[in-house]
Amino acid sequence: MEPALLQQLWQAALAAQTKAYAPYSRYAVGAAVVDEHGVIHAGCNVENAAYPQGWCAEASALSALVMSGARRVRGVLVVGTGGAWITPCGGCRQKLREFCDPDCAIVSANQDSLGPIHSMDQLLPHSFGPDHLKQS
Ligand code: THU
Repeated sequence: MEPALLQQLWQAALAAQTKAYAPYSRYAVGAAVVDEHGVIHAGCNVENAAYPQGWCAEASALSALVMSGARRVRGVLVVGTGGAWITPCGGCRQKLREFCDPDCAIVSANQDSLGPIHSMDQLLPHSFGPDHLKQS
């Protein structure tokens, strides 16, 4: 991923993180995705008093992408709270899989620096996806 795009995704994810609604876990997350047109969409986690009803930052970012009319994800960056790198949770890996190619870059970051980059296929190997539902 180009350094300039990395920086833009990071800034978008950090801005989204400031909007996180995480009164229960106190773990604010921001996610940013770039679509097939080069447009960046961002989202935060949104928790709920009925705990399982909350959703992740990645889901918010994907929702924004789909609502814009875009259909593909060309890169992802996620920012968590604290120093540790965050990688998308299992459910979010499957959600991302719907819109990412296997080699799509998924970047871990924190407030201070960019971290490791994994491909979609590294984070969700041998995955189930849209191709499985195609009729032969
Ligand atoms: N969370 C995300 O937003 N994305 C992830 O990939 C992992 C977890 C959120 C869910 C919950 O609001 C908080 O982080 C603590 O789990």
